[in-house]
Amino acid sequence: MLDRFNRKITYLRISVTDRCNLRCTYCMPEEGITLINRSDILSFVQIAEAVRTGSELGIRKIRITGGEPLVRKDLPELITMIRRIKKIKEIGMTTNGTLLDKYAGTLKQAGLDRVNISMDTIDPEKYKKITRMGNLESVFRGIKAALDAGLTPVKINFVRIPEVNEEDEEQVRLFCKANGLKIRAIRQMNLATGEFYPVEGGMGGVCKICNRLRLTADGYLKPCLYSDLGVPIREMDMKKAFLTVIGQKPKEGETSTSHQFYNIGG
Ligand code: 5AD
Ligand code: SF4
Repeated sequence: MLDRFNRKITYLRISVTDRCNLRCTYCMPEEGITLINRSDILSFVQIAEAVRTGSELGIRKIRITGGEPLVRKDLPELITMIRRIKKIKEIGMTTNGTLLDKYAGTLKQAGLDRVNISMDTIDPEKYKKITRMGNLESVFRGIKAALDAGLTPVKINFVRIPEVNEEDEEQVRLFCKANGLKIRAIRQMNLATGEFYPVEGGMGGVCKICNRLRLTADGYLKPCLYSDLGVPIREMDMKKAFLTVIGQKPKEGETSTSHQFYNIGG
């Protein structure tokens, strides 16, 4: 369906959890994050219901995000449920890759098409610093598992962190080239202070052609990452929620104080 600015809304990004097994410096504070109460997290049935309604209004493409989507229990079951919705043509996932080794095969079988994996360096020490705890080997294993399972094209998200990993970009590019991976370089953003940029080589953040909506883990349908608008899907007729949000999709990003990356999804 078209919004007020003639953009065809076909893409829904779904955050399935705000929890993560890492604490990337640019995404989460080290401690003291307020997590969503488990009882406020949408169930798989509610998420699938939203996807079904969205698909009737033109949604064709789904991306599962987090937090880290693979820390949500039984995630492959959600993929199976979404895959059954005929009008959905593509299901992707954005993950930190650390748990993919275990899940790639099951996810592929459930109907996941492809993955984007976050990796901001190929230096193990630096990886540990950026993620405050991560083991780079687990990401390498995850990348291999994704390729072996056919979750392709595998894309690597590389966030450019000023004065931290600028010099690592070239090595990551070479690593990608050698392993048949695509790379997306992303400027570090800060929603709270108004730093919001388009993704290089991708479609994210290009307001003029933006085709996406977002569903937060606690059940708010939002028209834009960089916007405080959101409607609670549990408190409204689902179709009305979609129509409201599509009807209010802003021409371009405005402000965002209501959500952060870890609870809206990158
Ligand atoms: N700036 C830019 N991208 C971010 N991501 C998370 N936090 C930020 C931020 N502050 C993106 C990363 C990661 C994805 C899940 O979200 O690209 O790969
Ligand atoms: Fe976790 Fe991804 Fe945020 Fe890193 S960027 S803390 S991996 S959700």
